[in-house]
Amino acid sequence: MGAALKQTDAGGQQMPRRKFLAWLSGVGLVGSTVAALFSTYFFMKPRATYGQPNRFRIGRPEDFPYGARVAIDSKRVCIVRDGGKIAAISTTCTHLGCIVAPSETGFQCPCHGSQFDVDGNVTGGPAPKPLAWFQVSLTPSGELEVDKDSEIQTGTYLNV
Ligand code: FES
Repeated sequence: MGAALKQTDAGGQQMPRRKFLAWLSGVGLVGSTVAALFSTYFFMKPRATYGQPNRFRIGRPEDFPYGARVAIDSKRVCIVRDGGKIAAISTTCTHLGCIVAPSETGFQCPCHGSQFDVDGNVTGGPAPKPLAWFQVSLTPSGELEVDKDSEIQTGTYLNV
């Protein structure tokens, strides 16, 4: 058939099929180069997700009645109100990271049985260190804000 095309081409073109194949090869080469560049770009582009922000608002002081110990599992903190003072204690177990739950005597880990007192000090189990306390501040709009990037000394409350 290629020979037939050569013979019947009246436009003076010697080999239109060969030109077409050359053009097709060029398109394929350019297309595969563009595809390779795109895939390399998307492969190299960082797609890290950093999870929830470590600084978040939890409500107003009056949302936490005196004596409240409110665990916010999604944020892994327990908000503790002692009279006119408020604190945020980590609910991430210092053993292997399970979420501890408030208990009668403080906090209890459901995974391997670590126990903590109300201030987060270890009283039993394999946990190697106490629960962390996080900075709590009052925003200009009167909301409480917890900063989990800022660990503070155990027993440090915000007066509200
Ligand atoms: S993770 Fe809490 S005791 Fe092991």
